[in-house]
Amino acid sequence: MLTRLTLFLMILAVLGITVACNGGDGVIPTDPTIAQFISVDVCEGCHKSTAAEWAQTRHAFALPDLLASGHAGDHCLPCHTVGLDGNPANSGYDDPDPTVAERFGGVQCEGCHGLGGDHVVTFDPLPANVGSGLCADCHVGSHHPTYTEWETSAHATSLSGPRETNSHFSLHCLECHSADYIFADSVSEDSTPDDFQYGISCVVCHDPHSGENEYQLRADVLTLCYECHTSDGASPGSSPHHPNGDVLQGQGGYEYPGEDYTNSAHSFIEDACAACHMWTSPFDATGNGEDAIAGHTFLPLIEACQECHASATSFDFMGVQSTIISLMADLEAELDLATDDDKLTLSYERATFNLKFVDADSSHGIHNPDYTMKLLMDSLNDFEPTTE
Ligand code: HEC
Ligand code: HEC
Ligand code: HEC
Ligand code: HEC
Ligand code: HEC
Ligand code: HEC
Ligand code: HEC
Ligand code: HEC
Ligand code: HEC
Repeated sequence: MLTRLTLFLMILAVLGITVACNGGDGVIPTDPTIAQFISVDVCEGCHKSTAAEWAQTRHAFALPDLLASGHAGDHCLPCHTVGLDGNPANSGYDDPDPTVAERFGGVQCEGCHGLGGDHVVTFDPLPANVGSGLCADCHVGSHHPTYTEWETSAHATSLSGPRETNSHFSLHCLECHSADYIFADSVSEDSTPDDFQYGISCVVCHDPHSGENEYQLRADVLTLCYECHTSDGASPGSSPHHPNGDVLQGQGGYEYPGEDYTNSAHSFIEDACAACHMWTSPFDATGNGEDAIAGHTFLPLIEACQECHASATSFDFMGVQSTIISLMADLEAELDLATDDDKLTLSYERATFNLKFVDADSSHGIHNPDYTMKLLMDSLNDFEPTTE
């Protein structure tokens, strides 16, 4: 069996670091006061599958891609390598020995987990922070203002906002509202939302280690967003919240027996939610005219609509939102006329549910004009308040 000492010596051999024996008690690096970067080549020895997955992500190619752009300069390096921190003595990309520096290209493990030199001696777990701050150092700037945009989004305040304003905000709500809750190994029953600090951060949607899905997403776009933007099977008698993903797919409203429900073309858009909510504007980092990467305010933009509807100038395209708003007002007015007896009928319950369902979707029909309109029309036809 390998002892820690032998293991450590093997690691140092890989690193080419000279070691001095400290009276046989242990081993210390050449300069024990300085924690060292050790590079993915070493992490790989013990975290094999993680390293193999990471090697398929764009982060692993950040240095070759930079060099291939033909625009590489020193100021580009901090975000495309590891350990360029002005302290050459701790190794990293700024190590004076080019054979050491060579190992530190790309956004490696230590770019996110911090220096690993002590970890391979003590085995104290390295931190695995799930806040967006981890990605903020690099995913900023006019070429890719991803973090800056995300910061303005409701995802950034999904914990802090409701915590301050909603008295029903409890632990189970955090399943969709907090990253550190989602990634916690275990949560004590005595915890409260105050024990958590992050909203929907980058790593809720992006897997830092796997390039299996496009853009390192944890699932395809629809599956990912639908995880939280779902009415979760709510039915008449209960209140539907955030059914955006259901409406887009044409499901989850109360569908009257015998009626035919069809979906609008938006149900079949390939990028699903991202097509409208993650529009990216053009930029030119390298002179090759690539698209800006951002779209992280998550707000729908009219430019996205224009991609398919050249003549659209507002979300109320062809008056669909106005029509839905006026149908909602008609239905609400009918429901307001209900007598106490009417309120006990299934018909009332179903129409109320459909009104809340369309209201909670918040797109006023745009997610699925056909389905939304049909639900409202059928509810209007089915519910008749008793008149004197
Ligand atoms: C010699 C083997 C070895 C090497 C090399 C190694 N690790 Fe580890 N690592 C471990 C062990 C063992 C643990 C588990 C410690 C524990 O759970 O107490 C661990 C834990 C971790 C954790 C915490 C996991 C968790 O569940 O919280 C992270 C993150 C981590 N290592 C990252 C790295 C990185 C990054 C490198 C390279 C810089 C690296 N490790 C190199 C053995 C190693
Ligand atoms: C040290 C700088 C740095 C850090 C920290 C960093 N990134 Fe990156 N990231 C980059 C660079 C550089 C690229 C472009 C690599 C390339 O394509 O050559 C990139 C690319 C990506 C991509 C594009 C993947 C693709 O397939 O197009 C995603 C997604 C991403 N990063 C997410 C994250 C997330 C999430 C975090 C935080 C957990 C993070 N990054 C932390 C520098 C960084
Ligand atoms: C502040 C950190 C930072 C600096 C500085 C930086 N980059 Fe990047 N670079 C990134 C990030 C993050 C990405 C990933 C963008 C994305 O996918 O959203 C990236 C992506 C790229 C890509 C795209 C890779 C691909 O094939 O898609 C190229 C090329 C690139 N950078 C070149 C440069 C050049 C040239 C410089 C210096 C003039 C530079 N970068 C400076 C962070 C940085
Ligand atoms: C872009 C940032 C980033 C990079 C690069 C990165 N990690 Fe992580 N890592 C994280 C974050 C964030 C978590 C916690 C969230 C999660 O588990 O997805 C994590 C979790 C871990 C864990 C504990 C949970 C698990 O998945 O087993 C280990 C071990 C780990 N990383 C090792 C590594 C190693 C080894 C590398 C390099 C091959 C690496 N990481 C590269 C950000 C990163
Ligand atoms: C299934 C995932 C999920 C769960 C569980 C969840 N939420 Fe939410 N919540 C969301 C989504 C998605 C939105 C954004 C919906 C929108 O803006 O249309 C949201 C938005 C909110 C908002 C802000 C928007 C508004 O309506 O004012 C508050 C407040 C809120 N939720 C409170 C709660 C409370 C309280 C709980 C627990 C009782 C909870 N949430 C549980 C997914 C969830
Ligand atoms: C709510 C989910 C979600 C969150 C949170 C999120 N992203 Fe994304 N991100 C996506 C989706 C979806 C895409 C793909 C968009 C598309 O298909 O056009 C994407 C794309 C990207 C890309 C690649 C874009 C490109 O065109 O190359 C990068 C880089 C990225 N995100 C980084 C980040 C960073 C950094 C954060 C945190 C500051 C973050 N993301 C937060 C969902 C998310
Ligand atoms: C882990 C759960 C989760 C995932 C995954 C998620 N969201 Fe959200 N989203 C929320 C919560 C919670 C809020 C509400 C935050 C608040 O208002 O406090 C929200 C808010 C939003 C809002 C803003 C609503 C408003 O009132 O301004 C949009 C738009 C949105 N999400 C789109 C998306 C898209 C698109 C995706 C997929 C790329 C996605 N979300 C993935 C939980 C999630
Ligand atoms: C065809 C374009 C389109 C698609 C696809 C789309 N949305 Fe929307 N979404 C909109 C528009 C337009 C609005 C309403 C904006 C307004 O009227 O201000 C909206 C509103 C929303 C809102 C409420 C925002 C708020 O400010 O209250 C959320 C949350 C949302 N969408 C999430 C999603 C999710 C999740 C998906 C995928 C399941 C999705 N959307 C797919 C266009 C789209
Ligand atoms: C990826 C392409 C695509 C995008 C992006 C898109 N749409 Fe559509 N939309 C379609 C298609 C295809 C149809 C069906 C066209 C038809 O029947 O003539 C449609 C139909 C519609 C309809 C119904 C028109 C009718 O005949 O009743 C409205 C309203 C609409 N879109 C609004 C929007 C708005 C607003 C946005 C932006 C938030 C948007 N669309 C974004 C592809 C798209």
